[in-house]
Amino acid sequence: MTNAVGSIMRSLTFQTFSNDERSEMQRREEEHKQRELNEIANRIIEKANFPARHLIDLEPEGDGWKKLSSRLASKAGSGFIIGITGARGTGKTLLGAVLARHEAKKKRSSKYQTAMGFFLDVKEAFDGKLSEKAVIESYIKPKLLIIDEMQERGQTQWEDRLLTHLIDRRYGAMHDTLLIGNQTKEEFTKSLGDSIASRIIETGGIAVCNWPSFRTAL
Ligand SMILES: Nc1ncnc2c1ncn2[C@@H]1O[C@H](COP(=O)(O)OP(=O)(O)OP(=O)(O)O)[C@@H](O)[C@H]1O
Ligand SMILES: [Mg+2]
Repeated sequence: MTNAVGSIMRSLTFQTFSNDERSEMQRREEEHKQRELNEIANRIIEKANFPARHLIDLEPEGDGWKKLSSRLASKAGSGFIIGITGARGTGKTLLGAVLARHEAKKKRSSKYQTAMGFFLDVKEAFDGKLSEKAVIESYIKPKLLIIDEMQERGQTQWEDRLLTHLIDRRYGAMHDTLLIGNQTKEEFTKSLGDSIASRIIETGGIAVCNWPSFRTAL
């Protein structure tokens, strides 16, 4: 009986709307879904702490940049640890922001911070605002973490151990991590230490942005 009623209802529905009306309804439903997804993505990005400059909509240029951007997107979600190094202005931070936006559309969280900012956050825990553990957890939780300006750190034992601990926890959780710096590939690898370098070899590698700077004089 229920099946019969269902079948009548279905045939009525199909008779009530023309093909054009049905495709218009589908289009609107799709538009609504897209709007909702964009709103969720915007909220994720707002929380991710990116510099406003790197959230501006622009049409990216450069074959090398675009190829690396696609490669990052294709590896997203695999639990990668990838290093990106290269000269000033080659679009490294933008690569991170674009990847985060790509991920946000899949409802995956991101966090952006400079290496110095990370250490300052942990040091602030000593003042009692949050526990050190809670600060570190907030860096483990996001599905994508971008640590920028890796060259701007003192490389004290405390910093190195903290960074290794963070990367190892993220490696275990299979959360993606992008480490950005601008030394040579060799200097960059050496500064990361054996433990992080080994995890990078297994999960992603180090990409070198060897194209000219996008920062040009007006
Ligand atoms: N593919 C691109 N196409 C066009 N403009 C870009 C591209 N990538 C970056 N830019 C622009 O170039 C400028 C420098 O980019 P970005 O800050 O990402 O470089 P960076 O490599 O992080 O530099 P730094 O090492 O100094 O931090 C920014 O204004 C950015 O919007
Ligand atoms: Mg940068």
